Amino acid sequence: MPFQISKAVIPAAGLGTRFLPATKAMPKEMLPVVDKPAIQYVVEEAVAAGLTDVLMITGRNKNALENHFDRNGELEATLTRKGDTDKLDKVNFSTNLADMHYVRQGDPLGLGHAVLRAKMHVGREPFAVLLGDDIIDERDVLLSRMIEVQGQRNASVVALLEVDPEQAHLYGVATVEATEEEDVVRITGLVEKPAPGTAPSNLAVIGRYVLKPEVFDVLEKTAPGKGGEIQLTDALETMAIAPDWTGGVYGVVFRGRRYDTGDRLDYIKAIIQLAVDRDDLGPDLTPWLKDFAAKLD
Ligand code: UTP
Repeated sequence: MPFQISKAVIPAAGLGTRFLPATKAMPKEMLPVVDKPAIQYVVEEAVAAGLTDVLMITGRNKNALENHFDRNGELEATLTRKGDTDKLDKVNFSTNLADMHYVRQGDPLGLGHAVLRAKMHVGREPFAVLLGDDIIDERDVLLSRMIEVQGQRNASVVALLEVDPEQAHLYGVATVEATEEEDVVRITGLVEKPAPGTAPSNLAVIGRYVLKPEVFDVLEKTAPGKGGEIQLTDALETMAIAPDWTGGVYGVVFRGRRYDTGDRLDYIKAIIQLAVDRDDLGPDLTPWLKDFAAKLD
């Protein structure tokens, strides 16, 4: 029987400089996507995949993140008094979503460094990492498939997305070999943000990982890489080329909808795409959007 994964780690300690000044006093993971902060979509996704123990890696301004998943007595009392159960349910939903834990990263020394901060909490078991600014559409399956592949292959697993070759330099990019499963590849190399035109493929690593605890051993020895940061991609590259003791790294190729809320343009697109599909907003938004687009020319 494969190990039953129950822990999710959500790094949310980046500075979010692409969103300044909005992120001067607020983590970018708290930016609303329609009417929910981005981070709530991510926690909901973890819970939907059976991961109810959530460790968030936070940095400065962590209060807003903690408060969002905690009770708000004043708001609850006011809504109860007014008998507004609809809004009360919305407030209580995020409070009761998961068993939340928090650890501070200290200095934002990179995603690899943030993940290493989870070592004590996770222990020696496989765990998932979900980036707090990456949203996977709840109608598409990704994390549960990655957990399944991790159990079957006893390896670490990353999510891969086919991107436009012109965009590859913005991601970690994988060199891969096919497997007998159409959506699974074996990763033989990884490079973080390759110089334009040098990417080994158009398969980019996106913000979902299911990792074996050996990643902590590797991260402890990983020197700062691109941008002077300790890169998770560099640790995964080490694991990919040493499968004998790390179990190796596989990729699940995701063909569903993903929204990068850490990027301003993608953030705006995400809001529009998700709002159009909503029963309460779509019917009014869609005709307005068509009219607006028609007038642009
Ligand atoms: P990004 O590189 O997208 O985040 O990291 P950033 O550094 O906040 O972004 P910009 O470029 O300044 O706008 C991806 C994820 O890793 C987390 C971020 O919070 C984000 O969810 N992260 C990054 C950390 O937790 N710690 C770090 O040191 C770096």
